[in-house]
Amino acid sequence: MATVRSPSYLLTLGRWRRGVGVAPQARALAALVPGVSQVDNKSGFLGKRPHRRHPGILKLPCVRLPRALADAAQLMLLDSAVPNVEKQVQALTNYLWSRHLPVEPGELQRRAEHLEKKFLENSDSSQTEEKLRGAVLHALRKTTYHWQELSYNEGLSLVYMAARLDGGFAAVSRAFHEIQTQLPEFQPKTLMDFGSGTGSVTWAAHSIWGQSLREYMCVDSSAAMLDLAEKLLKGGSENGKLYIPGVFFRQFLPVSPKVQFNVVVSAFSLSELPSKADRAEIVQTLWRKTSDFLILVENGTKAGHCLLMEARDLVLKGKEKSPLDPRPGFVFAPSKKPKEEKFSMVILARGSPEEANRWPRITQPVLKRPRHVHCHLCCPDGHMQHAVLTARRHGRDLYRCARVSSWGDLLPVTTPSELLPSPVEDPPES
Ligand SMILES: C[S@@+](CC[C@H](N)C(=O)[O-])C[C@H]1O[C@@H](n2cnc3c(N)ncnc32)[C@H](O)[C@@H]1O
Repeated sequence: MATVRSPSYLLTLGRWRRGVGVAPQARALAALVPGVSQVDNKSGFLGKRPHRRHPGILKLPCVRLPRALADAAQLMLLDSAVPNVEKQVQALTNYLWSRHLPVEPGELQRRAEHLEKKFLENSDSSQTEEKLRGAVLHALRKTTYHWQELSYNEGLSLVYMAARLDGGFAAVSRAFHEIQTQLPEFQPKTLMDFGSGTGSVTWAAHSIWGQSLREYMCVDSSAAMLDLAEKLLKGGSENGKLYIPGVFFRQFLPVSPKVQFNVVVSAFSLSELPSKADRAEIVQTLWRKTSDFLILVENGTKAGHCLLMEARDLVLKGKEKSPLDPRPGFVFAPSKKPKEEKFSMVILARGSPEEANRWPRITQPVLKRPRHVHCHLCCPDGHMQHAVLTARRHGRDLYRCARVSSWGDLLPVTTPSELLPSPVEDPPES
């Protein structure tokens, strides 16, 4: 039996599996995986529910924009004079999806030095310093990703709305759904949305916690975006009543730790910041402003994932000083869940993790095979496991629950760490 600890081990498994289903080596290792041994019967987790509705299921199959929001957006697009909207929408969607992180100045310097050394080795000594510098800069420009800040003016804000309103709404709805399903008694009163853009976070939060939420603070540096969000809330017109009461708009992020919000969100906005230092400052401020949950959502890409891991580590490793709220943070929900909207998210919570993360999360599509199921799990203690579940070895309840579960769901099973044997060595690269 094997416990998987190392990411490189997982990558190796991934390579084996590509294109050929589960390769024999992987199957041999997988069949050895322990830990998944006990249905969480202690909590009577199923009650009278059928397996297909077991309480670890968190997927949100279909999200619809609220009618009022969809109508307002449509009206605003019809009223607008943006030329070639469809083309612009496609171009912006592709651009945002394929965006990388900005290259840090230190990294740029390192690359320049490396190129200079290479040029010096390969050129004759008569090369002038000016020529050398020119060649280095030229090569750097050609090989370095050029990150650009987007200026969300009126036109781009409208195109962004047409491109991303539904996807953004769906992604944050999924994150809110996760909290609501796991903590139905949580009734937030206040929410802050950093980089609020179209205001889709406010609409999604209202759909879920509209009964309890009294204040929604939308922060966006773009005045045009704030205007657009306000107009959407007024049904697509300048005047009229806000569809959701208690929404406030700010161009600057309030930094004082005195006023906290139950829920703080940043959706697709960390990727808009020009450097690691800027991101760190914003994440620290957002965490200081969080009394219960900090929800970070980015694209389901490598860049999006890296941004979230960077932010998560910043909060969990406690570099951030929060004088008025010393409670530590923990990861309430890590998940990278591809559906039609592929996004990465991390939900950080204040307090103690004991109650929240008792079941492992499924981190890849569940492979259903005759009389057995492959589940890749991230366990509450951080272990990754590739478990092969059968009715005979794990009991009918767990087997049936696993068969109906999907990527992102929780598997109602206990994996006490004391049952886990020591980790195996990484297999050799093949
Ligand atoms: C990609 S949009 C995301 C909008 C929205 N959160 C969503 O989910 O669709 C990023 C937003 O962040 C805003 N933004 C960028 N830098 C910012 C900053 N330093 N402070 C506040 N807002 C910022 C931009 O104006 C833009 O509206």
